[in-house]
Amino acid sequence: MSGISPSFDADFAARFAELLRWRRDVRHFDRRPIAEADMRELLACAALAPSVGNAQPWRFVCLRSPALRQALIEHVNEQNAEAAGRYAGQARREHYLSLKLHGLAEAPELLAVFCDEQPKAGHGLGIATMPEMLRYSCVMAIHTLWLAARLRGIGLGWVSIVDPEAIHAMLDVPAHWSLIALLCLGYPLEETAVPELERRGWQAREPWADRVFER
Ligand SMILES: Cc1cc2nc3c(=O)[nH]c(=O)nc-3n(C[C@H](O)[C@H](O)[C@H](O)COP(=O)(O)O)c2cc1C
Repeated sequence: MSGISPSFDADFAARFAELLRWRRDVRHFDRRPIAEADMRELLACAALAPSVGNAQPWRFVCLRSPALRQALIEHVNEQNAEAAGRYAGQARREHYLSLKLHGLAEAPELLAVFCDEQPKAGHGLGIATMPEMLRYSCVMAIHTLWLAARLRGIGLGWVSIVDPEAIHAMLDVPAHWSLIALLCLGYPLEETAVPELERRGWQAREPWADRVFER
């Protein structure tokens, strides 16, 4: 045993539920920088996530180069235009194009998250039949970071409208790393309990119980 186990009271549980309700995917950022100490804390929190075999396969690349940021913006905008073209109906296509789907230009911090598909840690435990567990572990770390950010008033936006191979080449990372996410972090321009896609009429949340089954 290490340390005294904390207890989480009803008030904490209620506040935690509020955190979950008010976590948002953010695309509208003000340009106020995030303090370096806060970024370090967020990354340290992410590392508390569970992972298959305790393999900790997440690899966070902090993007510092303005030229890389510009290249990413251009890439995502291109991919976004292609994605729009895949909608057959004009109304749906125009609706899609009206959405703001990334804050890459404004967010003060950009992180690319990769999964090390051959981590030394973990000794292969749990991935013989389902190697994708490594990638799921990375998603756990991202969600942990997301909540840790939100409780500090920092917003996170997940950008997935990318060609992963192009991002891999741009960032020059090892061949056995696969892209999980491109993340924008910064202080949100507004806070809301309703997802942006719901507010813009794209997709509302549906009752959670409709997605629970019994056998
Ligand atoms: C795996 C994943 C990928 C996502 N990719 C994008 C994206 O490329 N662009 C975007 O605007 N939002 C993206 N999102 C955010 C979702 O649109 C958002 O989570 C959803 O609409 C619910 O809103 P909320 O996160 O504010 O509750 C992504 C979220 C996840 C979990």
